[in-house]
Amino acid sequence: MSFVTYEAKDLIGIVTINREKALNALNTQVLNDLEEVIDGVDYDTIRCLIITGAGKKSFVAGADIGEMAEDTKAEGKEFCEHGNRVFRKIETLPIPVIAAINGFALGGGCELSMACDIRIASDNAVFGQPEVGLGITPGFGGTQRLMRRIPVGKAKEMIYASINIKAEEALKWGLINAIYPQDELLPAAEKLANRIAAQAPIAVRAAKAAMNEGIDVPMDEAIQVEVKHFSDCFETADQKEGMKAFMEKRKHEPFQN
Ligand code: CAA
Repeated sequence: MSFVTYEAKDLIGIVTINREKALNALNTQVLNDLEEVIDGVDYDTIRCLIITGAGKKSFVAGADIGEMAEDTKAEGKEFCEHGNRVFRKIETLPIPVIAAINGFALGGGCELSMACDIRIASDNAVFGQPEVGLGITPGFGGTQRLMRRIPVGKAKEMIYASINIKAEEALKWGLINAIYPQDELLPAAEKLANRIAAQAPIAVRAAKAAMNEGIDVPMDEAIQVEVKHFSDCFETADQKEGMKAFMEKRKHEPFQN
């Protein structure tokens, strides 16, 4: 049995972490299942992914504490590398990924959401990196991504003092883009995913790659990243049709993959 389910809906895919009894906590099997599902997506067809958690209480309540409790240093390192490898894979997928955060996003859950391109949340969502209260640091990217998503000082305050924040505060700090009532979260995520899927897909992929490749390099190098991706788009049928349709004041033909 897999702890991660996948549903393809036309041009979008929905990945659900499904270990509700443990609030979708990430143990080794969940990480393996998540990677297997991500690897199995048909990226020739699917143009946007949504990642969410099963149930109405939790997105992901963190890495599995029970599994880590007796770990040696070497085992802790292996678990950290495992989670980081899977999350980096998600972050660098060729298509955009939306985290639909339907409750607790603590520790590894907050970290999973931060590996996604876009975060939207339900009104009961709670975010935090409470690891220092367990005697460890965040280990699936939290020490690195939180300070890249919100101001460094706020990230340090949350991590050092193990402070969890509710959806409203996460919105204020820009950690999430929007808040929805629980029942409206997934429909909102699907609407956004479908809007992304309706754009020129090669251009969307190029935009994601340009932003990902450029974010951590000096500006002159980052500009060259943009030059490459922008110019590559001129070899696509979508660019020809998209611009021709604009000039002819008509709706463009459906974009191609
Ligand atoms: N690991 C393992 N099991 C977990 C879990 C986790 N991270 N979070 C919740 N669970 C389990 C609980 O043990 C409980 O199981 P049982 O029913 O078998 O006792 C079940 O899920 C329900 O949880 P609670 O009874 O605790 O539910 P609650 O509503 O009272 O509290 C909560 C919810 C505040 C999220 C609380 O469960 C909690 O604090 N969870 C841990 C959050 C956390 O510290 N996450 C960070 C983990 S470390 C990490 O993620 C490291 C990293 O960066 C890689």
